[in-house]
Amino acid sequence: MKATLALALLPLIAASPTPGTYPGFYYPPRPKPAARAPGLGDLAKKAGLKYFGTAIDNVALDNEKYTSIAFNRSEFNQVTASNGQKWVHIEPKRNVFNYTLGDQIVDASKDAGQMRRCHTFLWHNQLPDWLTTGNWTKTTLLGVLENHIKREADYYYGDCYAWDVVNEAFNDDGTLRKDIWLDIIGPSYIEHAFRFARKYTSPGTKLYYNDYGIERVNNKSRAVQALVKDFQTRKIPIDGVGLQAHFTVGRSPLYSDIRGAQQLFTALGLETALTELDVRLEVPGNKTAEETQARVYADATRACVDEKRCVGVTVWGKYTCSLYFD
Ligand SMILES: *[C@@H]1O[C@H](CO)[C@@H](O)[C@H](O)[C@H]1NC(C)=O
Ligand SMILES: *[C@@H]1O[C@H](CO)[C@@H](O)[C@H](O)[C@H]1NC(C)=O
Ligand SMILES: *[C@@H]1O[C@H](CO)[C@@H](O)[C@H](O)[C@H]1NC(C)=O
Ligand SMILES: *[C@@H]1O[C@H](CO)[C@@H](O)[C@H](O)[C@H]1NC(C)=O
Ligand SMILES: *[C@@H]1O[C@H](CO)[C@@H](O)[C@H](O)[C@H]1NC(C)=O
Repeated sequence: MKATLALALLPLIAASPTPGTYPGFYYPPRPKPAARAPGLGDLAKKAGLKYFGTAIDNVALDNEKYTSIAFNRSEFNQVTASNGQKWVHIEPKRNVFNYTLGDQIVDASKDAGQMRRCHTFLWHNQLPDWLTTGNWTKTTLLGVLENHIKREADYYYGDCYAWDVVNEAFNDDGTLRKDIWLDIIGPSYIEHAFRFARKYTSPGTKLYYNDYGIERVNNKSRAVQALVKDFQTRKIPIDGVGLQAHFTVGRSPLYSDIRGAQQLFTALGLETALTELDVRLEVPGNKTAEETQARVYADATRACVDEKRCVGVTVWGKYTCSLYFD
């Protein structure tokens, strides 16, 4: 049984996944932690989750105060590489693989005894030029996709609790996003990616569809649910749905919204996770807005804790160490 979890959330962290859409993060001064306060990861496990995690971007790695918290498994027992495992870094030239940035995060989190959510095999963004400007056919692009997933899955074999197999495939209205994958391969690119992921990742690796704007029951989350149902009918592997949970004070979903959205997927037997939780504030902030921000973090976390199949929460946000530590 999951207990209610009262968390003093510290929104550290990382890089904007979609440059340009993240203006004006503001975080209040970091409160001094009470002496011997238990870490968030430890509290999350006590509350029945598998983890409370954080994204970590490579640009943060030279900040020792930051890394001493981010790689502390009592505080965060799960890590997501914000950018290090994305296509543009992993396969910068066709069939030339470079795991340097991924390894910086993965190796350090292994040393720290943390779990990893690996992120991401297929996205429309942060793709290398050779891929976006290539003259592909359906067959050649599927070959490129299979090769990429095979090589990266092999390399990180057994290292990942979960992989975000496909990231952000839907528009807000529930139609499929127009991108290179849809244009050239058609809607089947999604199932191909999941089949490749199942074939090449280690057995038991959880395969996730991950998206933003699906933290309420709406056209987009219903479209993801329809995808899952279709996959289940046709025996295409999928284990979980990641609700990114990029929120903004004043427009955030309520606890009940997040519960309802998760139940679209948990009712089908899938697990869920809040994979990129952050709560944006306009600058300059004020006390009311800060209190709302804190409540949104707490409500979102509670919406996972109270959901039987929600396995964990990962905070994302902008890399704001200088705010905290200078
Ligand atoms: C890790 O975090 C826990 C919880 O905040 C803290 O008690 C512990 O001292 C930290 N460990 C290190 C090495 O900083
Ligand atoms: C691999 O990536 C790292 C980090 O971006 C870079 O410093 C290094 O030069 C790359 N290696 C090769 C062989 O291109
Ligand atoms: C793209 O490839 C096709 C054959 O697959 C060829 O007919 C066409 O000329 C190519 N286009 C460009 C711009 O290279
Ligand atoms: C949701 O989809 C329905 C049709 O399926 C459409 O009528 C409605 O306008 C959509 N709502 C939004 C907010 O896009
Ligand atoms: C506090 O910030 C919120 C959110 O940015 C804003 O809507 C509100 O007007 C501000 N309140 C005051 C008193 O400045």
